[in-house]
Amino acid sequence: MCVMRPILVVMLFLSGFEHSFGSEDVVHHSAHRIRNHRVGRRHRAVNDGELHFEPEPYSKKLELNSSGKIHCKVAGGVAPTVQWYLNDEEPLPEGVTSANGTLMVADAERRHSGQYTCKAVDGEQSITAKISLDVVVTPRVVEPSPGQQLHVTVGQTAVLNCVATGDPPPTTHWDRNLAILGKQQDGGVEVEDGVNASIARLVLMNNGSLVIRNVSAPDADRYGCTAGSAAGLARNELQLVVHQEGELPPQESSGVAGKAVVVSISVAGAYMVLVLALMVYCRRRRLRRRQRGEKMELEMTEGREKLVEDGEEEKQKVNGAALQNGRLLAHDKDSGADNSEVSGVSRASKKSGQFEHLSVPRSLLTEQITLGRGEFGEVMLAKIDMCQLNKLRNKEGLDADGEPKLRPVLVKALTAKDEVQLAEFRRQLELFSRVRHDNMVRLLGLCNDADPHYMLLEHTDWGELKKFLIATRSPEENAEYVSRVGAAHAPLVPARACAPLGAEHRALLAGQLAAALAKCAAHRFTHRDIAARNCVITSKLQLKLSYPALTRGPDSHEYFKLHEQVIPLRWLPPEAVLEGDYSTKSDVYMFAVTVWEIYTKGELPFAKLNDNSVLERVKAGTLDWMIPDSMPEPMAALLKRCWSKSPSDRPQFTEIYEQITAILQDITSENTSQKSQDKAEE
Ligand SMILES: *[C@@H]1O[C@H](CO)[C@@H](O)[C@H](O)[C@H]1NC(C)=O
Ligand SMILES: *[C@@H]1O[C@H](CO)[C@@H](O)[C@H](O)[C@H]1NC(C)=O
Ligand SMILES: *[C@@H]1O[C@H](CO)[C@@H](O)[C@H](O)[C@H]1NC(C)=O
Ligand SMILES: *[C@@H]1O[C@H](CO)[C@@H](O)[C@H](O)[C@H]1NC(C)=O
Ligand SMILES: *[C@@H]1O[C@H](CO)[C@@H](O)[C@H](O)[C@H]1NC(C)=O
Repeated sequence: MCVMRPILVVMLFLSGFEHSFGSEDVVHHSAHRIRNHRVGRRHRAVNDGELHFEPEPYSKKLELNSSGKIHCKVAGGVAPTVQWYLNDEEPLPEGVTSANGTLMVADAERRHSGQYTCKAVDGEQSITAKISLDVVVTPRVVEPSPGQQLHVTVGQTAVLNCVATGDPPPTTHWDRNLAILGKQQDGGVEVEDGVNASIARLVLMNNGSLVIRNVSAPDADRYGCTAGSAAGLARNELQLVVHQEGELPPQESSGVAGKAVVVSISVAGAYMVLVLALMVYCRRRRLRRRQRGEKMELEMTEGREKLVEDGEEEKQKVNGAALQNGRLLAHDKDSGADNSEVSGVSRASKKSGQFEHLSVPRSLLTEQITLGRGEFGEVMLAKIDMCQLNKLRNKEGLDADGEPKLRPVLVKALTAKDEVQLAEFRRQLELFSRVRHDNMVRLLGLCNDADPHYMLLEHTDWGELKKFLIATRSPEENAEYVSRVGAAHAPLVPARACAPLGAEHRALLAGQLAAALAKCAAHRFTHRDIAARNCVITSKLQLKLSYPALTRGPDSHEYFKLHEQVIPLRWLPPEAVLEGDYSTKSDVYMFAVTVWEIYTKGELPFAKLNDNSVLERVKAGTLDWMIPDSMPEPMAALLKRCWSKSPSDRPQFTEIYEQITAILQDITSENTSQKSQDKAEE
């Protein structure tokens, strides 16, 4: 198989090289960009004297019939009074009270959902913060019940119902042995409204049921029904048992027996889908590249990467003057933007430079809620009408149905006025528009019709990776973690039994992240805030690197204020913390921390230490990573190299990806060797 050959695997990352190759000013160009990054990176801290929120209150979801609090802490000023209101200035609804700046809900009802404003007044000064409170019901899968069995005889039709409750109403999907039965996928699955629904053997009904006609022995498997909404996830599994004609199962009546069975867990299926996709991709790439010396290309590129990194030392000293140079932003070949100077253009277009063609009217956004604050302004989650967006981009043909198709979108507002933050905003725009990869969120557009400008990044149906990882903990694992590190680290999202991740899933997620970062590195981009909180995940277990960077809000405890800058202390290598030295090699270190998070199911690194102790150990060089038991030995060895004190001892992302691919291969070959013969023949 092509994917199994390392050189071809490596080719996956080379896809981005085409643009930079053959362009003689690559080195010059990337040098500029790195300088740009360095200045723009760190998040500015707030001024202490003025009245300000610390932290900014953030939106919350509250389970129906539960109680909850939203704090609004105010710092600065003389003796500020803090009060909560419904909407702008309306009195609070019955059942909601405000005491000492804390909004309290004793018994959440649906009518309590809405916008609330925290207002702090101190003499002349007053500040307000708006949040939204959502009263939700976590999804629950009603049917199938856990461990349910469905017995059918060969040739019959099996109807697998997937019924879930929750508010907002969850969407559901089926997987077979953890491989998603997608509507667009091949494999003979057809949707109810599809043209071939009447003849297809597998049909996904609009009511969520999966119909399998003319059942045969190979259909017997574990089928999972997953329900998900903004309020969470749930999954129950059903065992389909196929009997030969005339052979009735013991005490079989309607076909459903409630007994749980011990199922041998073999999840090679999901991986095989990935391998197939990679194979197709590889083959396409190989054809295109046959004439080129791939190996040489790789060596040359690695050489250049080193060159760029070595050269960073000097460039670090250069000040922010280069930031206003429009040329830095105007080299995007595929954007079709012109390369002229932007210095004469208005301030508004300076913010977005060549991204005018990505302009999106704000009216396409609905259901905005505030998540917190990032390095240059508020960060929100909203829904965007993809049909309108596609129309705007002249892609009407893609969605002929005309129904609004709402997709979640991450909105990052640019409220900061500072050049440094402006540069960081542009850097992120450039990162997500230039580096196109399946494991990176896409830049969907830019709202620059009015201030503040909004950066719109793709978001996924399942949302943040960190919350997902925590949700995969069993209640016992969660209790163990909390007892080990203290109640202060009890997760905000409750642990619930959502599909546990197998060894191959974890390696798969790590490999996806490595692939995305290899592409970033190939484009000479550094990310600088790689962490589970900054990744999102889809219901098809596809990881995407994003950039919410909520320095203030629910993730603020993962950041640390050092010398007036806010940094993700626990994720950073010593040279970045102590000398502000960021490079692809600091990204490698952060990547390893994120993989560690995947294996520990979203634990906080060094949770037992407070920020100052972590800092002291970084300075003393005594911070040592503990490898979780669940991590395979080769992965642990790889991460240890990524955590090398000296940046030059850390591997390149290309090598990391190769190694993880090999690890995955080992895991799946172990799995497949346990599989029965008939599966192997497929
Ligand atoms: C919430 O409480 C109401 C009234 O007490 C009850 O009817 C309802 O079933 C409860 N809902 C949930 C999800 O617990
Ligand atoms: C609010 O704070 C004051 C003094 O700090 C305290 O006396 C009072 O009990 C608090 N009120 C509530 C409802 O906690
Ligand atoms: C429906 O089935 C026909 C023949 O089996 C096939 O050619 C066609 O591509 C199918 N259409 C879709 C949308 O799958
Ligand atoms: C969904 O529709 C199919 C076919 O109309 C039916 O057999 C099945 O019982 C329905 N499922 C539920 C949960 O109502
Ligand atoms: C059912 O499937 C079997 C093969 O598994 C095939 O031989 C048979 O013709 C199918 N029957 C119908 C009605 O499609």
